[in-house]
Amino acid sequence: MYDDLFQPGDICVPRSFTLGAATAAYQVEGGANSGGRGRSIWDTFSHTPGKTEGGATGDVAADHYHRVHIDLDLMRTLNLDAYRFSISWPRVMPTGEGAVNPDGLMFYSRLIDDLLDRGIQPIVTLNHWDLPQSLEDKYGGWRGRETAHAFETYAEIVGAALGDRVAVWSTHNEPWNNSFSGYGSGAFAPGGTSHADALAAAHHLNLSHGLAVQALRSTITRPDAQISVALNNFRIEPEGPDDADAARRFDAIANRIFTGPMLRGEYPDDLILDTAKFTDWDFVKPGDLEIAHQPIDLLGLNYYEVMHVRANPAFDPASESDGGTDFPGSERIEFVRRDDLARTGMDWGIEPRGLEEHLVALSEEFPSLPIMVMENGAAFRDTVVDVDGIPAVFDVNRVNYLSAHVAATVRAVERGANVIGYLVWSLLDNFEWTAGYGPRFGLIHIDYETLERTPKLSSRWFAELCATRALPVRTPSSEKAHAEREGLDAAATL
Ligand code: FCB
Repeated sequence: MYDDLFQPGDICVPRSFTLGAATAAYQVEGGANSGGRGRSIWDTFSHTPGKTEGGATGDVAADHYHRVHIDLDLMRTLNLDAYRFSISWPRVMPTGEGAVNPDGLMFYSRLIDDLLDRGIQPIVTLNHWDLPQSLEDKYGGWRGRETAHAFETYAEIVGAALGDRVAVWSTHNEPWNNSFSGYGSGAFAPGGTSHADALAAAHHLNLSHGLAVQALRSTITRPDAQISVALNNFRIEPEGPDDADAARRFDAIANRIFTGPMLRGEYPDDLILDTAKFTDWDFVKPGDLEIAHQPIDLLGLNYYEVMHVRANPAFDPASESDGGTDFPGSERIEFVRRDDLARTGMDWGIEPRGLEEHLVALSEEFPSLPIMVMENGAAFRDTVVDVDGIPAVFDVNRVNYLSAHVAATVRAVERGANVIGYLVWSLLDNFEWTAGYGPRFGLIHIDYETLERTPKLSSRWFAELCATRALPVRTPSSEKAHAEREGLDAAATL
């Protein structure tokens, strides 16, 4: 279908570099009631009226749980080095602690074998937000310290079962969203609206990260396995000199609240001061910071856009709320929407140079730590067109987006950043949390009625990149035919 559209360009990605694609359990698996899976907080939340776009739930999603073999074969055609997926904690431990569901564990064990058989390295996330509902009911979810200990046991069980084969482990995915969107703003499951709770959740995620790293170290046996955490550490740019303090505040609450404990063994002083009106931090117990601060092998970075910030000139301290706003102190900061930028379907500004700068800066900040881009990608309004009876999606916008970001990553490496891999978000179109099924991030299109898979043009582009290691560019001879096909798909371009 997409033959002869690309030829290798002159930007080269090192052979040793890991190229792959990512998903997360609740977003793709479906099979919500299959194989003994327990309930997660995202089941409860998505089934609560008004919480997700159009009442969307992950009950079926891309039905990856039942169609995993189709997806594995598609992955092989993409020439992926690695596939990042998350384990659904309630599929493995239906109530989060106690009994293990052997069928759940077996699903992931087979998936790992099938990946390795196809020459694809498994990259496993332990927590991509789908906390067992029982732990929410019993301990208040991540608000409660007990959940951190339950996570340690879960990591031990999964490490012992799969640790002979998994290449890269991530403890958490984006603890920022997990804590502040989940417990403070109310936007994500479980929908809590207390900034004090969100700060406690952030601490328990930090603590549980350290506990899980220890649990993995004591159980995994694959000699070259690496342990990491996937942070959406933000590239923050103040609009002007007067906005430096707004940038510092956002950096403290969004970035250093996680890198501080995990990578330095401390909370930054300015964070404690900034948040003093919300909490006294009494949930930090003696010894917690030593536990959170475990040596890790790799830092995962999820990058989507630059955060342009400025101080809110109309800020009134009396207006500061205890919850239900984006994060503690968010009234002080404005996020500037730059009209000069092209934007994705999520309305996120497209700035590949932000990825380049951020990789260089992070590598300077943590010189001993290799970095992997664990998520980068874009949603666009993709549509399936019929070309001589064969379905196709000409997602030229996504090809351009991914090309520019891979090139930015290569430039960061040339500037000395220690980056060892790049994973596209996402392998498949999927359940985009509160936004439901509107935004499509996949290299592979999913028809949510028939669950039919249609590889998009971007999947062919990525397959070429993985095979040739030279950024594929469109061939001049194919431009005309290509333009005609894009014409068919005019609605899909922004
Ligand atoms: C990240 C999430 C991922 C996906 C992308 C678009 O914040 O980790 O699950 O939703 O955004």
